[in-house]
Amino acid sequence: MTTPTELDLTDATAFVRHDAYEFWRDVRKHRPVYWHEGNPGFWVVARHADVLSCYADVRSLSSARGTVLDVLLSGGDSAGGKMLAVTDRPRHREMRNLMLRAFSPRVLGAVEEKVWERTSRLIKTVTRQGEFDFAAEVAEHIPMNTICDLLSIPEADREKLLRWNKLALSSDDAESDRLDSLEARNEIIGYFMDLSRHRRGDPGDDVISMIATAEAGGRPLTLEEVALNCYSLVLGGDESSRVSAICAVKTFAEHPAQWRALREGSAAIDTAVEEVLRWATPAMHFARTATRDMRIGGRQVRAGDIVTLWNTSANNDEEVFDQPRRFDPTRSPNKHLSFGHGPHFCVGAFLGRAELRALLSALTESVAEIEVCGEPAPIYSNFLNGYASLPVAFR
Ligand code: HEM
Repeated sequence: MTTPTELDLTDATAFVRHDAYEFWRDVRKHRPVYWHEGNPGFWVVARHADVLSCYADVRSLSSARGTVLDVLLSGGDSAGGKMLAVTDRPRHREMRNLMLRAFSPRVLGAVEEKVWERTSRLIKTVTRQGEFDFAAEVAEHIPMNTICDLLSIPEADREKLLRWNKLALSSDDAESDRLDSLEARNEIIGYFMDLSRHRRGDPGDDVISMIATAEAGGRPLTLEEVALNCYSLVLGGDESSRVSAICAVKTFAEHPAQWRALREGSAAIDTAVEEVLRWATPAMHFARTATRDMRIGGRQVRAGDIVTLWNTSANNDEEVFDQPRRFDPTRSPNKHLSFGHGPHFCVGAFLGRAELRALLSALTESVAEIEVCGEPAPIYSNFLNGYASLPVAFR
């Protein structure tokens, strides 16, 4: 792998072909905020302190046009102002309060219990199996089922939802695939609109019913808004949780001494979960649009400019993390930004953490040694970091 001084950050293969950590170390040192040329170009923010203050500054940095670089470069997000993640204040605060009310401790407690049951069942099954693909056999089954449990999606509908979601996220560039993916996205929204209409008429004790019947800013959400916000839970919760589980297993396989420490109890599960999240950094960046002229890290940013915040870099900033490229499951404090920061801080953080806690606990109980048996397939993306497959054996 090479360490270029210039990298095209719009290129999905950039960090498969080049060492991301070397690249970002160089950026933090020599040009921590820089203008990336393109059509349009965009700002790149690399230091932990600057990324943190940008996340917090929701007055000057808007999410409403979109929060992912590719979406912003291709004209913006059509769900802006309707879906939580791509809505600004004051509407964002109203919607977020509504969502947080729906995520009550009782609902989350019940979902967490199912996560533990499902995870330990899956781990027991694969441990007897010899070599297998951890991504396909385990990681794929946990997050979507967790979200489906959260939304009380009927068992019979889960498979089609999973199929649509895979199609909707398909990163293939071919025109036919793009159409399939758009169609799948519409199917999901349509499905959630039907379900929301039904639950609004006959509400139950689940998150969709709560979102569909509660008010935000003095009025109920429209059915489209309910559906988009249900979909946003699928979008936010599926891939990032999946890749962090895959990263957890790969990383402990590569660090047998740390695995022993976790099994023996000299490293705690909770600190290990935070270190896995920092190490994995599933979402490499999030993006904003400047609403006014402002300064970031001494550079002049103009109203309308796209600003990208690189979590991968912030999570390895030597100003904040001692020896950032050392995987240390006892690291504390661990101020990683994998869940973002400020008003848009991940609403699913509790569940994301619960999934990893359940995975590490189930593994420490039954697996003495994790062996990677083949080449893991990387994900080609400038947004999602990690692996799509991981051949392993649990002993
Ligand atoms: C927001 C990461 C799990 C739903 C975010 C943000 C990050 C993030 C970085 C902030 C985005 C921004 O500032 O623009 C992750 C990671 C996860 C995870 C790394 C797993 C390891 C989940 C789960 C759910 C979820 C399980 C759903 C149950 C959301 C939603 C938002 C969000 C709806 C938007 C919040 C807002 O704008 O107020 N997530 N997430 N995430 N996440 Fe997660």
